[in-house]
Amino acid sequence: MKNTHLVFFFLGAASLAALLLYFSFTTLEEPAGLYAPQPTPDRIILSWSADPATTQSVTWRTDVSVKEAFAEIAPADPSPDFPGRATSVKAATELLVTDNNAAHFHSVTFTGLQPATLYAYRVGSGDHWSEWFHFKTASGEEAPFAFLYFGDAQNDIKSLWSRCIRQAYSTMPDADFLLHAGDLINRANRDEEWGEWFYAGGWIYGMKSNIATPGNHEYGRNVLGGRELSKIWKPTFTFPANGPEGLDETVYYLDYQCTRIISLDTPALYADDDAGEAQAKWLEGVLSNNPNRWTIVTQHHPVYSTARGRDNEEVREAFQPLFEKYGVDLVLQGHDHSYGRGHNLQFGASRKDKGPIYVVSVSGPKMYNLNFEEWMERAASNTQLYQIIKVDGNLLSYEAYTATGQLYDAFELRKRNDGANKFIDRTPKDVPEIISIPERLQLKMEEEEVREYRQRFEEYKARNKGRKDLQVKGLEGAD
Ligand SMILES: [Fe+2]
Repeated sequence: MKNTHLVFFFLGAASLAALLLYFSFTTLEEPAGLYAPQPTPDRIILSWSADPATTQSVTWRTDVSVKEAFAEIAPADPSPDFPGRATSVKAATELLVTDNNAAHFHSVTFTGLQPATLYAYRVGSGDHWSEWFHFKTASGEEAPFAFLYFGDAQNDIKSLWSRCIRQAYSTMPDADFLLHAGDLINRANRDEEWGEWFYAGGWIYGMKSNIATPGNHEYGRNVLGGRELSKIWKPTFTFPANGPEGLDETVYYLDYQCTRIISLDTPALYADDDAGEAQAKWLEGVLSNNPNRWTIVTQHHPVYSTARGRDNEEVREAFQPLFEKYGVDLVLQGHDHSYGRGHNLQFGASRKDKGPIYVVSVSGPKMYNLNFEEWMERAASNTQLYQIIKVDGNLLSYEAYTATGQLYDAFELRKRNDGANKFIDRTPKDVPEIISIPERLQLKMEEEEVREYRQRFEEYKARNKGRKDLQVKGLEGAD
């Protein structure tokens, strides 16, 4: 064999070995595709479908080899002997075929639970079980509570949203539940993105109940080109089926310790011409017959926008008059990928004690340019945030934190005897408003657009004259 042939022989053998090594490693890393289901449960998530004081629903996923699954529950106890006292409940099981795989989704609703009690539960079957998780039932009566609210997670969920939900949990591990205001993911039926959403929140979802309202990104296109709710939504969650016909598990309400929480399906308004009217009619019934002290609405599309060039008139027309008429206290929204908090416009100078407080927030990394509309009293651009909302008798307190755990915005509502709220601004005065144009957006903007932005900001500043927190960073170079 000539020397050159020998070199080629060795090169060929080395390449083959490298190729074999590569395939053996990739096979080891991804045995059956990304976020593939296994016989052991994953995507374990708590939600409520009925009374949070006496019931708890749990949903999870396995591969299709698991035909029958169970959830076991026992009162939690510091002794590790509590599993001996567990009772077992058979799950409802459904098949879901996604772009990635086929899986079984299982769900159980525990009933007859004691209020304000810590329980332990696990899910699985045969030799494949989850760990034991704790959750606490709601008190049957009025009692202080707190929850975490997230605007759109949507993009780079594993890479960049995970830090937000984990920081939120670290700030308030005692929160009673989580609320997601839509666009949890970007492409409605991409199983991998749901996999990322579960990766990011992990076992937090198994310990805290979740309330979620669908965003436009939870609506995909059907074969006829129409908009349709993600087929992953209903198998993933177990929400109350008390909404208008055809909008089960997207439009619903539940009462938690004297607070009514309502989810409205705003993307449905853009999918079906009748959905606005049907929801408004239902909403009026739910608001007019409401014995709770506080009422909080979550919906994806905002009544008032924070992002430039955006307005959801259909949503405002359908729901806002009812919010005003029946004294909704707080409306928690997403969609505009920026932050804004403020009141209704129509009440002018005295507006602070009338109508709900509207919030638009964003928890993921996708960011839009601010519009500085009149309704906004505190804004943020290019900032990932999460919110902690606490209710204690006549006091509702609200705090928005940046993804790095800094308090950014705060207010209180004190409910008077006549049902109206006194608004108290608790904005941290030493925290400048972050409303510069994100650099990557600036690069895409024409000079004229930058000038316009600056103009809108100057008007915003004039309207909010006297506010010490308006030492804006980043606008110096805007013109
Ligand atoms: Fe979004």
